[in-house]
Amino acid sequence: MMKKKLNIGMIGYGFMARTHSNAWRRVDNFFDLEYTPVLKTVCGLVKEEAQAFADRWGYESVETDWRKVVEDKNIDLIEVCVPNNFHAVIAIAAAKAGKMVICEKPLALNVAQALEMTEAVEAAGVPNIASFNYRRIPAVTLAKNIIDSGKLGKIFHYRANFLQDWTISADVPQGGMATWRLDAKAAGSGVTGDLLAHCIDLALWQNGSISSVNAMTETFVKERKNVESGKMESVGIDDACTFFCRFDNGSLGNFEATRYARGHKALFTFEINGENGSIAWDLHDLQRLSFFDHNDSGLTRGWRSIHVTDGDHPYMSKWWVPGLSIGYEHSFVHQAADFLESLSTGKATCPTFRDGLETQKVCDAVLDSAKTGQWVNL
Ligand SMILES: NC(=O)c1ccc[n+]([C@@H]2O[C@H](COP(=O)([O-])OP(=O)(O)OC[C@H]3O[C@@H](n4cnc5c(N)ncnc54)[C@H](O)[C@@H]3O)[C@@H](O)[C@H]2O)c1
Repeated sequence: MMKKKLNIGMIGYGFMARTHSNAWRRVDNFFDLEYTPVLKTVCGLVKEEAQAFADRWGYESVETDWRKVVEDKNIDLIEVCVPNNFHAVIAIAAAKAGKMVICEKPLALNVAQALEMTEAVEAAGVPNIASFNYRRIPAVTLAKNIIDSGKLGKIFHYRANFLQDWTISADVPQGGMATWRLDAKAAGSGVTGDLLAHCIDLALWQNGSISSVNAMTETFVKERKNVESGKMESVGIDDACTFFCRFDNGSLGNFEATRYARGHKALFTFEINGENGSIAWDLHDLQRLSFFDHNDSGLTRGWRSIHVTDGDHPYMSKWWVPGLSIGYEHSFVHQAADFLESLSTGKATCPTFRDGLETQKVCDAVLDSAKTGQWVNL
């Protein structure tokens, strides 16, 4: 069968551009799809670097002005893999040009931008994804399936952490291409948009809407050298954020993210406790799901560690033989596969921009609560 082509314009050639390019390159090898991705153009700030990226990953051409890629009649899909302050302008222009859009998380700098982006893709009627890739790690997808099956019963608690340690030194600068995450103008916020957004996306998906939040944030290092100006400037991002919340289903939530947890590089965990069972997951052991079923018979009741590698586990029949692991990068391959599949079925792939907007609302409410010291209703 002749496959239909989907021409991709990749904006950015950093970390996420690599994970997404890898996904487009792999997806055809493992999934049977009507559409095949074509790595058409990669765009980034420095031409030679864009060319080196194109040579490595197989893009046909390079560009340094993202507007040219958005206007290119040959491009079907724009991938927004650049710092957060460019998400809105690129995604909205892409939607207006009739392109499909996959945008990295957090969707935007704030709710106003996220709303404008959502309205733009919906008005244009173009397929869109907010790239919260963790939903597509098989153990995380299995967790969602178990929750939806009702096995946990009434949910009492949802707790999630995302812990890192890379900004403890006061010598880490802010701004520029390597450390834009510490510059509030480029990132919008600190760990709230960068790390908690992932936790919130999974929480909303697995446990439903959040009705109110109460948060505190801290900026431990108050001034850092700005790479561009060369001057010491005050730090506008949150270095750490803790919040608790109420979900519409009556459960309580407890969330923490920080870049000051010495020893932790990317410890993303969540745990859900229900009347009849609990589940827990840890990014450092991403192929396993811990599950406790209170209905098990007394003598052998206990936490199970499910190695999510069997043929009937989510996505796993597409990979190797039962018992063999896959990793982080496969979550992006699954996203690419689900997106291409959705072009055939016409059914949207979640999380869409509208889902990303819901996460953005919680992020903004958390930052608002931290500022005012008050509960914020959603
Ligand atoms: N889904 C995830 O788990 C995950 C992980 C990391 C980053 N992200 C998100 O992905 C996005 C990119 O992060 P990253 O880690 O890849 O960053 P990065 O610093 O590695 O790469 C950023 C890229 O953007 C390019 N760029 C910057 N301004 C540009 C412009 N005006 N025009 C064209 N290109 C421009 C740079 O050349 C660079 O290639 C961010 O929104 C980030 O929050 C998501």
